[in-house]
Amino acid sequence: MGPHRIVNIEDLRQAARRAVPRVVFDYIDGGADAEITMRENVRAFESVTFRPRCAVRTPQCDLHTSIAGIPMAMPLMLAPVGSSRMLYPRGEEVAAAAAGAAGVPYILSTFSGCRLEDVKAATSGPALLQLYLVGDRAVSISMMERARAAGYTALVVTIDTAVAGMRERDFRNGSKELITRQIGPMLPFVPQFLARPRWLVRFLRDGGMMKFPNVVLPDTGPMAYADVGASLEKSVVTWADFGWIREAWRGPFLIKGIHTADDARRAVDAGASGIVVSNHGGRQLDGVAATLRMLPEVVDAVGSQTEVLIDGGVRRGSDIVKALCLGARAVLAGRAYAYGLAAAGHAGVARTIDILRTDMIRTMKLLGCASVKELNGGFVDSR
Ligand code: FNR
Repeated sequence: MGPHRIVNIEDLRQAARRAVPRVVFDYIDGGADAEITMRENVRAFESVTFRPRCAVRTPQCDLHTSIAGIPMAMPLMLAPVGSSRMLYPRGEEVAAAAAGAAGVPYILSTFSGCRLEDVKAATSGPALLQLYLVGDRAVSISMMERARAAGYTALVVTIDTAVAGMRERDFRNGSKELITRQIGPMLPFVPQFLARPRWLVRFLRDGGMMKFPNVVLPDTGPMAYADVGASLEKSVVTWADFGWIREAWRGPFLIKGIHTADDARRAVDAGASGIVVSNHGGRQLDGVAATLRMLPEVVDAVGSQTEVLIDGGVRRGSDIVKALCLGARAVLAGRAYAYGLAAAGHAGVARTIDILRTDMIRTMKLLGCASVKELNGGFVDSR
């Protein structure tokens, strides 16, 4: 992960492509349907231009902030990425450890391959638990109770996954067949694993295809991969659920998957400590607007009542600066660190965070702004 070879997130993306089988790389890299929203998320950042204040000395840049009272060394959280353990052995623990070392909070997906207690123990920093309602209410409540006991600081409830999006690349790469564990259907898709023997050996040593140890079903125990789709569809979260979720959790929670001002207002009414403007990185409903384009509408509607975060398309530290200028308090990054994790485990995630941090500092110095708290709409032109 030397700074000469890995200069930016695209370098990490290429390193990930070389390190893991195609089905795993495309699981990270792909989006829903025609991937229009996924591309738009990135393009929206590219189309915002800066308006620097030059001839200003900024010897120090203060990146510190907080979300829901959680202190952060910079305005970045690692987004929930399901099945991270497929990217790298004990992937969730490894990513959480790298985040903690950098003072960046880690959000653990419901669909983690590692036990939530082990993930919390692996990091010196704050951890949040992303919640999907899977199984019945008791299953979610027991997951929340475990998270509270383990020291998770906040919950992140994702609301944009009524059904799993249609990721065409996963379909073509045999994702469905590979989780059947039946040799016949799997066979045509096996060569992609043989092409990455290093990954394969590590994967098998780490226990191979794992179950989801934090989703414990009363009859069958930890949920299996093959059951995820149907289970998500059966237990869709609705606004009415926030009553019992709030009661069961009794702590701060964020709502992730806000696309419009209307839903942002509903989230505030539901008692959210913060909201994440997110289209799931373009992995759910394709054809929705880029998150950065929706951000001003949401900030106008609820920015004075709750903390607004954004994710989707963050690939450079300057993207984080742009998001903050347009009213976000912090961002989540998904693929940016997932590439790092797949490429090189701890070192890869650490490199991701380092790239984003040093980018941010340089950008702010060039803008003539000494603190994230002073970033505002005057530094950008988003027309
Ligand atoms: C995700 N995302 C996600 N979100 C969530 O709430 N629960 C989850 O389990 C997952 N799983 C997941 C897997 C992978 C491989 C990716 C890339 C993403 C969405 C994620 O939290 C975030 O919203 C997006 O990744 C943000 O877009 P970028 O940063 O990837 O462009």
